[in-house]
Amino acid sequence: MNSETLYQRIGGENTVRAIVHRFYQLMDELPEAWELRKIHPEDLSGSEQKLFMYLSGWLGGPQLYVERYGHPRLRARHMPFAVDSQARDQWMMCMKIALEERVSEGDLREELLKPLGDLADFMRNKPDHG
Ligand code: HEM
Repeated sequence: MNSETLYQRIGGENTVRAIVHRFYQLMDELPEAWELRKIHPEDLSGSEQKLFMYLSGWLGGPQLYVERYGHPRLRARHMPFAVDSQARDQWMMCMKIALEERVSEGDLREELLKPLGDLADFMRNKPDHG
């Protein structure tokens, strides 16, 4: 048994910040993430700060997002944006690369990717055709 939180195991605040920063950099730069990029604001710094705060709590660290904004209601907050399978896949692609580059331990990456994939899937709110 490992009693440490995922937050502690990946390296705490610095690593969470590094992952999120790289995530949005990739979203901004990769042509394959264009459809995802274009539903985000031009300035990604606010999105980056919010995802950092959210993931901090989600990983078992300080509940920064909840303290500031209350219950995440994450699915409801995504309703203004059309999230289909393509958007989900692009989100996960950026996250997978960011984790590969910022978390060296493969097992730990897998532990993160599985629940993040489930969460991203749950965020879908638009049928893929029609
Ligand atoms: C499945 C594909 C996803 C798409 C297309 C998507 C898209 C977006 C967009 C367009 C925004 C608004 C950006 C902004 O307010 O600056 C947003 C906000 C946010 N997203 Fe996602 N997202 C996805 C998945 C996720 C997942 C899996 C998480 C959590 C791990 C997440 C966490 C957040 C948070 C915390 C916010 C800020 C909410 C707020 O306080 O307004 N998103 N997302």
